[in-house]
Amino acid sequence: MEEKKILFSAIQPSGILTIGNYLGALRNFKKLQSDYQSIFSLADLHTLTVKQEPANLRKNTYELTALYLACGIDPNESILFAQSHVSAHTELAWILNTICYPGELSRMTQFKDKSKKHEDNINMGLMDYPVLMAADILLYQTELVPIGADQKQHLELARDLAIRFNNRYGETFKVPEGYIGKNGARVMSLTEPEKKMSKSDANENGFISMNDDKDTIIRKFKRAVTDSDNKIVFDESKPGISNLLTIYSACKDITIEQAEKEFEGKMYGEFKLKVGEAVADIVEPIRLEKERLLANKDYIDEVLKNGAERAERIAYKTVNKVYKKVGLVPRKWN
Ligand code: TRP
Repeated sequence: MEEKKILFSAIQPSGILTIGNYLGALRNFKKLQSDYQSIFSLADLHTLTVKQEPANLRKNTYELTALYLACGIDPNESILFAQSHVSAHTELAWILNTICYPGELSRMTQFKDKSKKHEDNINMGLMDYPVLMAADILLYQTELVPIGADQKQHLELARDLAIRFNNRYGETFKVPEGYIGKNGARVMSLTEPEKKMSKSDANENGFISMNDDKDTIIRKFKRAVTDSDNKIVFDESKPGISNLLTIYSACKDITIEQAEKEFEGKMYGEFKLKVGEAVADIVEPIRLEKERLLANKDYIDEVLKNGAERAERIAYKTVNKVYKKVGLVPRKWN
């Protein structure tokens, strides 16, 4: 049998995820998982680049593991693990640091944005974030990396570092391709539809969290910002309605045009209710399954252990190869 290509992606356990994260990431992971040897990680070390309450980080890590599982990631078919459990990630990041230049990192859009947002904590990890991410990807000889549009620049760096290393030391890394899901890749705020939907939005009505129950979801959609004309069409001048159409068509797996057709001549009130129901139909079963899984921490620990052991076997092949290529004396003992 031909070996499957490797797919790698990761999410930070930095708090609740929104329906935007689900439609843009988790749902694609599930769709892609069996076409590839899929490896999904919890980027817990990345999370430390902004201040975390230790107890929250731990809780969020369990939550996100349960969410991955509830969204249909199969821990036997795919490899699901926490980044900090496989030390090869930080080891490769160190080597990649030696071929990466500060200018490449200081001009990253996300570094600049986060530096503004966390002015009191512009740490080296925040700047080095993309190098650790490159290590995550390159360790597994990954071919496909599903990412949000905001991670494109980071993926580009991973590709550059792979090519640079290969040129300097000989063929070592596969050069990965990014995959940006077309549907639902950009879900906007419900209250300010010009802005991306974000869980850190001070106004809770702006986002739908994967923890919201059905009533909350319906209520938030009822309050969603629209406009004063009464046409349900996708148009730049109608960011609110366009966003609702995007969300609806993503949830129902139909095109925007099909969604427009379905709501032709309908009132905004009815439309918003239908969008809310479509979202709740997806979120509610996932939330309940996640709660069920979280009640059994031992099971989650077992999944993470099993995932880390499998990830480690692949990752250390790459680290050993890299250490040898750069001239480090190999360990002659175990
Ligand atoms: N930086 C990514 C994000 O916040 C998460 C991430 C970490 C990642 N390592 C990765 C994504 C490797 C893809 C591949 O979305």
